Amino acid sequence: TNRTFTMIKPDAVENGHIGAILEKITAAGFKIVAMKFTQLSTRDAEEFYAIHKERPFFGELVEFMTRGPIVAAILEKENAVEDFRTLIGATNPAEAAEGTIRKLYATSIGENAVHGSDSDENAAIEGAFHFSGREIF
Ligand code: GTP
Ligand code: MG
Repeated sequence: TNRTFTMIKPDAVENGHIGAILEKITAAGFKIVAMKFTQLSTRDAEEFYAIHKERPFFGELVEFMTRGPIVAAILEKENAVEDFRTLIGATNPAEAAEGTIRKLYATSIGENAVHGSDSDENAAIEGAFHFSGREIF
């Protein structure tokens, strides 16, 4: 068993998809071990996405991720990181497989409904960014 970190992004919250997305996540066998409704500050978003600092869409990404509340969560399952990225689908919803969360609920490559960690190492870093030990069950 291991863990991944996710965020339901501002677009999906605005569009009323929190419940449907959490249902897909739990139905796929992920256990929620930490969860909160919160909003990223500009500094939070710049730090969280520091790896994309030099990309042309960085400003747009920070603007988007800070414009409204998100749901942040740590999820537990065997093979969590890889299985969760399969469940959410490709970054660009136009390329995402049928039935994936991004295919169903994302708007565009930028406003793509959910985040999923891309490695066990980043899952641990991202989880610790959002949650203290006492908030993880
Ligand atoms: P995350 O799970 O959010 O990390 O998505 P990802 O791993 O599928 O994609 P990546 O890490 O490459 O990019 C991070 C985020 O930047 C994406 O989820 C998008 O929100 C945004 N992004 C990526 N490419 C583009 C782009 O070409 N234009 C815009 N506006 N945003 C982009
Ligand atoms: Mg990524």
